[in-house]
Amino acid sequence: MALTVGVDIGGTKIAAGVVDEQGAILERVKLATPHDSAQVAATIAEAVNTVRQGHEIEAVGLGAAGFVSADRATVLFAANMSWRNEPLRDRIEAMVNLPVVVENDANVAAWGEARFGAGSGRDNVVMLTIGTGVGGGVIIGGRLLRGHFGIGAELGHYRAVPDGLPCGCGQHGCIEQYASGSALTRIVKQGAAREPERAKILLGLGDGTPEGIVGSHITVAAREGDPVALEGFTEVATWIGQAMADMTAILDPGVIILGGGVSEAGEILVAPARKAYQEKAPAAGQRPLAEVVVATLGPDAGIIGAADLARDRGM
Ligand code: BGC
Ligand code: NA
Ligand code: ZN
Repeated sequence: MALTVGVDIGGTKIAAGVVDEQGAILERVKLATPHDSAQVAATIAEAVNTVRQGHEIEAVGLGAAGFVSADRATVLFAANMSWRNEPLRDRIEAMVNLPVVVENDANVAAWGEARFGAGSGRDNVVMLTIGTGVGGGVIIGGRLLRGHFGIGAELGHYRAVPDGLPCGCGQHGCIEQYASGSALTRIVKQGAAREPERAKILLGLGDGTPEGIVGSHITVAAREGDPVALEGFTEVATWIGQAMADMTAILDPGVIILGGGVSEAGEILVAPARKAYQEKAPAAGQRPLAEVVVATLGPDAGIIGAADLARDRGM
């Protein structure tokens, strides 16, 4: 059976897996992402070379958080990382001696979910990954939308607010500044600073100060009913609902999948997002709308999707 390796390159962890044609992960390894960005490629290669032991591997797929060139070789730009014209494919190929393809991180997650997860069997799928940034993946007619230069489906940088908050891409008002995990943390920290007596659960999870609040606290606090955490989720979800309505006007998907770390909150995020989507969609109430679901492959979506796309699927 033909096996490939998929790698999910995250800000804190680099996760690699050996994946079969049914999307099953047979072997996996996780390494810490080095702080020195010059070391990242070496760590990716180390993860691949560790996990491949004892398997015959055809190719390697990498999911990278940035704008990836159409030839799947170069990370042209990354809004939240230091990559600029990074020749990632060639660097890794030289260290692993296997064919390597680079793909956008949200594209691989969307592909993984569309083939083997929440969108399996569906042909028109939009996925939003809600983490440090907002990633987008679009599958239309069963094919991954890459655009002419390879950098389509950068849904996080659609302008939700003219002249809004500054973004890592150099523009203002991108949805990423309102609907990401980073935005959720910012909103909740502000809320806890303004009304500490309503944020007792939240503050109790960190060091007692708003600055001590991190993303994982917000999900835990929301589950325990902390009003400031819940309001933060509702605010972010409302932006996501708007984004889904706008994407629906353009793409008319059958299913919209919400993934990324923030989606682990499940219905706390998805229920208000769905409500905002149904209210904000063009011709709301008089048209069919996509089903809105939470990703089912969790953090494995990237590994599985990258491995599958390394077989030249979705082209
Ligand atoms: C980047 C995308 C990436 C997303 C999620 C955005 O800021 O522009 O390339 O997919 O973050 O990591
Ligand atoms: Na994308
Ligand atoms: Zn932007």
